Amino acid sequence: MRITALVFAVLVLVATPAAAVVGGREAADQPWVVALYDRYGQFFCGGALIAPDKVLTAAHCTVERSALGTRERLVGDLRVVAGRRDLDRSDGREVRVASVWRHPDFETAAQGDDIATLTLVQRLPYRPVPLGEAGPGDVATVYGWGRTAELAPPSATLREVDLPVLSDQACAQALEGFRPDSMLCAGYPEGGKDACEGDSGGPMTVRGALVGIVSYGKGCARAGLPGAYTRVSRYLDRI
Ligand code: ARG
Repeated sequence: MRITALVFAVLVLVATPAAAVVGGREAADQPWVVALYDRYGQFFCGGALIAPDKVLTAAHCTVERSALGTRERLVGDLRVVAGRRDLDRSDGREVRVASVWRHPDFETAAQGDDIATLTLVQRLPYRPVPLGEAGPGDVATVYGWGRTAELAPPSATLREVDLPVLSDQACAQALEGFRPDSMLCAGYPEGGKDACEGDSGGPMTVRGALVGIVSYGKGCARAGLPGAYTRVSRYLDRI
C-alpha cells in the first residue's frame, strides 16, 4: 500500500509539466523583478519588489511539495536576488528574508489566495513596482526565468511575454475552479505564449503596474488553456 502511494507520487512528480515564459522574448533590465533561491543556491520562483524591503510572490512558492508531502520553506533558507537579469552572473544584490506572510486561507494555487510577501532584512536600492488593476482587453506583460517550453529547462536570462487578459467568463469556462474575485487569467485561444514552471510568483504588469502573480496553469501555452494569476488588486488591504 505504502509502496503504491510512493510510486504514484513519483509518477505524478515526473509527469507534471514545468512552467516558464513560453513564446516570449529576452527582457530588458528590470531590477524590481526578483529571483527566489533556496539555501542550496537552487532557483525556484520569481517575485516582485513592491517596497524597498518587501517582495510580493505566490503563496505556493513559500511551501515545498515533494513525494513526502508539503512543508513550509524556512525563512532562514530563503534568498532574494534583485537587479540580476542573467542568473549566471553575480551582479545585483542577494539578500536574506526576515519574515514571511502567507495568505492564511492558502491551500493550493488552484484554490486561490496564492499570495505571500517576504520582508527583507535590508532595503534594496531599486525602484519598487507600483500596484495596479487589470481587466479584459488589457495586454499584460509577464516576466520570468521559467521554462521556455513544457519540457525545456528554465532560462538563465529574464524573459517576458505579452498576453491578453481575458474576461472572467472566458476564464471560468477554460479553468475549473476559477475565482474571478481573486484571480485573473490571460492567454491566446491558440496558445503558444504563456508563463511556465519556474515563473511562479513572478509579476504580471499592465501599464507598468503590478496586477498579477504567476500562479498556475495546465501544462504551458496549450491551446484553450490560459494561465491563472493572483489578482493583486483584491489583496491591497493585506499587503
Ligand atoms: N506553478 C508554476 C510554478 O510554480 C507556474 C505555473 C504557470 N503556468 C502556466 N501555464 N501559466 O512555476
